[in-house]
Amino acid sequence: MVQQLMRARGVEAQPENLLIGYGSGQILGLLPQVFVEPGDMVIVEGPTFMGAVSRFAAAGARLISIPVDGEGMVVDCLEEVLRELARQGIRPRFIYTIPTFHNPRGCTLSWPRRQKLVQLAAEYGVVVVEDEAYYDLRFVGDPLPSLAALDEEGWVLHVGTFSKIVVPGVRVGWACGHPEIIRRLEMFRSEGSLGPFLGRVVARYCGEGRLESHIQLLIRRYREKCHLMLEAIAQCFPPEVKVEAPGGGFFIWCELPPPLSADALLQATRALGVTFLPGTHCFADGQGDHALRLAFSYQPEERILSGIQIVGEQLYKLMGQR
Ligand SMILES: Cc1ncc(COP(=O)(O)O)c(C=O)c1O
Repeated sequence: MVQQLMRARGVEAQPENLLIGYGSGQILGLLPQVFVEPGDMVIVEGPTFMGAVSRFAAAGARLISIPVDGEGMVVDCLEEVLRELARQGIRPRFIYTIPTFHNPRGCTLSWPRRQKLVQLAAEYGVVVVEDEAYYDLRFVGDPLPSLAALDEEGWVLHVGTFSKIVVPGVRVGWACGHPEIIRRLEMFRSEGSLGPFLGRVVARYCGEGRLESHIQLLIRRYREKCHLMLEAIAQCFPPEVKVEAPGGGFFIWCELPPPLSADALLQATRALGVTFLPGTHCFADGQGDHALRLAFSYQPEERILSGIQIVGEQLYKLMGQR
């Protein structure tokens, strides 16, 4: 099944390229053990999925954050950082990126940036870990090739998961990459392999074309909920709040006009029963109080509408406009 999914992402994977684990979270958590000694440099995005990045930090990695805009990681910035590090004789241990329907930013790495990122990885000899948790949940347009599909030299380690396309409780994920990296990840996986039961449940569910039709169903649901949330935001939020429509995934990222604070906003909305992820939980370097991540995937329609209305009212209140 994973081989089939990787084929759809442009990669012909052999068994020696693949490792199955308890969710992609387990595999991301193994990365520091394979790659990082305390003090080693790891490049991440800002904002990023701190669920993974906090594990890198806990292993003693020194983190450098590269900004992310509407087209994904700003690879020109990455190039400058890699050049400067090379000048100092430092080779980062890896670059962690979420190219498609970014968590939390909702954006997708553009085609030219994908090409440049893979080219930089080869030029500077740095592994790129591409976390494609949301790759299949596309609402509009055609899929872009995964970084692994563009990589001819084995620098990209692709990480995927079934938890976003089957159900969240199904903690089955995979890594696909150079056999040597896969072998080392496997060595550190002290829990052992997935076990035949869960593996068979997923394989059986995914057989007979059921996964594909289930993904189509999820896409329809999430697309509707995303539109609903965007429309509610357009009606309820002050126009100064910057919002971009994501092309897929779970999240809408909002940037607040200065001096508004997402943490202060959360304090106000939480008292009214509405929560969101403040940007301060999305940056390795403590930034992010100017932004928030809204998730449309879980809550039913009526809760999305009432939630956005409450956040909007509190935004106006904080701005002193109402
Ligand atoms: C970007 C990203 N990577 C990985 C994961 C972890 O997924 P899994 O359920 O497979 O551990 C998540 C879950 O929220 C995520 O958003």
